[in-house]
Amino acid sequence: MTKVDFALEGVFLGFADSPRFLRLETAEGQREIKLSKEVCAYLYRHVYALGKTLNRGDRLRVSGVRKKECSWKAYALELLDGLGEVDSAAPQVAAQLCLGVCHGKKCAAAGAGALKDLLAAAVDADPSLVGRVRVRALDCQKQCKQAPVVVVGGRSISRVAIADLPSVVAAVGQWVQRSHA
Ligand code: FES
Repeated sequence: MTKVDFALEGVFLGFADSPRFLRLETAEGQREIKLSKEVCAYLYRHVYALGKTLNRGDRLRVSGVRKKECSWKAYALELLDGLGEVDSAAPQVAAQLCLGVCHGKKCAAAGAGALKDLLAAAVDADPSLVGRVRVRALDCQKQCKQAPVVVVGGRSISRVAIADLPSVVAAVGQWVQRSHA
């Protein structure tokens, strides 16, 4: 039986890069949650196979395992309202991306502090990212050989150098564009 670290209720905001990652607005803030294959199979049987889909504003209960600061994986999902039509009165909550920089020992030694400061400055300087991206220091991500590690919406980028920051910021910008389209 899978250990459960979290049980969250919230409002479905949409999928992230793929149907394997959903975004949920909860009382504690926004979460990007990876779906296990069991949850994907559940959605297929109870939603997609019926010709329906999840709509922004649907209320969900999700439970699963939290491995790292920004890494949530769902092993169970419950549709709290059933599946209605698109509700134009559904909350229009802006998704917020967690842009994490590991500050464990190895990453700190490899320049994580400067990376975080530069990423925070890049976000602050771009009006399209302000309020939509949260830059955070993370605990060790258990990928120390890949230090320094940056985590964008739950996915890790290894051995990030200062020269890589424009491409990291570009990836963040694309995420924001997709999620606010
Ligand atoms: S110190 Fe960053 S992954 Fe371990």
